[in-house]
Amino acid sequence: MEYRKLGASGIEASAIGFGAWAIGGWMWGGADERDAVAAIHASLDRGITLLDTAPVYGFGRSEEIVGKAIRGRRDKVVLATKCGLVWDIEAGDFHFRSDRRCIKMDATEYKVFKCLRPDIIRRDVETSLNRLGTDRIDLYQTHWQDSTTPIEETVEVLLDLKKQGKIRAIGCSNATTAQMDSYRAAGQLDSDQELYSMIDRDRERTNLDYCSRNGIAFLAYSPLARGLLTGAIGPGRVFDDGDQRSGRPRFSVDNRRRVLALLEELRPFADAHSATFGQLALAWTAAQRGCSHVLAGARNPGQAVENAAASSVRLAGDELAAINAVVERHRGGIA
Ligand SMILES: NC(=O)c1ccc[n+]([C@@H]2O[C@H](COP(=O)([O-])OP(=O)(O)OC[C@H]3O[C@@H](n4cnc5c(N)ncnc54)[C@H](OP(=O)(O)O)[C@@H]3O)[C@@H](O)[C@H]2O)c1
Repeated sequence: MEYRKLGASGIEASAIGFGAWAIGGWMWGGADERDAVAAIHASLDRGITLLDTAPVYGFGRSEEIVGKAIRGRRDKVVLATKCGLVWDIEAGDFHFRSDRRCIKMDATEYKVFKCLRPDIIRRDVETSLNRLGTDRIDLYQTHWQDSTTPIEETVEVLLDLKKQGKIRAIGCSNATTAQMDSYRAAGQLDSDQELYSMIDRDRERTNLDYCSRNGIAFLAYSPLARGLLTGAIGPGRVFDDGDQRSGRPRFSVDNRRRVLALLEELRPFADAHSATFGQLALAWTAAQRGCSHVLAGARNPGQAVENAAASSVRLAGDELAAINAVVERHRGGIA
C-alpha cells in the first residue's frame, strides 16, 4: 500500500481509502452490518488506513458501524468524517428531501439542509465523536458548502476544535476553488473531496489543478462511478428497493452497455497487470496529477480486498496516455 500526505497536516494516509457511504444503507438499498464490519477489517488488514464516513450516511448508521469496526484498532486508522449536512433542524440552505425511496431501514422522510453554522458544528462534532467511539477525528471535512454562513466563521470554529485536539486536519468537499481560497485565507485547508473518476472529469481543470498547485490533498469520491466501472453492473442487474442508482440515466440499460463497451476496450490494459476493471479504474484515478487519495466504497470483504489490491497496480506514463485516448473516445456518449 502506498501512503500519501494529507496536505500540510503532517498526517499520511493510504492512497486507496475505504468509503463508508454504502455501508450506511441509505440510498444504497440497505446494507448488512456484519458484511460492513468485515469489509472494514479486510481493508485495514491490507494496509488501508484512510476511512471516510459522514453523519448523513444512514443518518448516523455509517459512523456507528465504522466506530464498531475500529474498536481496538483506532491507532491504525486515519479517520475522516464530515460536518454540515443536518436533518434534525431547518437551517442554512435546503439541500434535498430524502424520501421513502431512498430509505430502506425506516420510512422516515428527512429534509436535509447544508448548514455550517459554528454552533451546529460544535454540536455535531460531539455526536460524531460519540458514534465513532473516539476522542479525535483525523480529518474533519465540510460536506457541502452553505451560502448562509461565512466561511471565515466556519474556519474559526474548526481551528478552535483543532486547538482542543478534537480534530487534526481540516478539509472541504463539493467546493469551488474560490471557496477554497476563502478557507485558506481564513486559516487552513488540508484537503478537498470531489467527484472524480475516469468518466467524471469536470473537476480536473479546477479543483484537481488547484489542489496540486497549492499542496492540498485531493480525495476522489465515487471513483468506480458507483460500481459501473467495475463491470459488475450489466444490463440484467436489478437494483434493490431504495438504491439511488435505479431510475438514473447514468444507470439506464443503454448507458450500462456504453460503459461496458468502454471497459471492453480497456481490457488489454487490465490484463497486462492481471487487474480487474475496478482495480484499473482505481489505479488510473490514483495516478492522476494532484489526486492524492481515492475513496472506494465497498459493501463486503470481497469488494474491499479487491479494491485495496488496486494500490499495487502501477500504470506507466504511456499506458495512462493510451487509456486516456480510449476514455476520450467513449466519454462523450456516456451519461
Ligand atoms: N463528499 C461527498 O459528497 C461524497 C459523495 C459520494 C461519495 N463520497 C465518498 O466516496 C466514497 C466512494 O464513493 P461511492 O461509494 O459513492 O462510489 P464508488 O466507490 O464509485 O462505488 C462503490 C460501489 O461500487 C460497488 N463496488 C465497489 N467495489 C466493488 C468491486 N470490487 N466489485 C464490484 N462492485 C464493487 C459497490 O456497490 P454494489 O455492490 O451495490 O454494486 C459499492 O457500494 C463514499 O463511500 C464516500 O465515503 C463522498
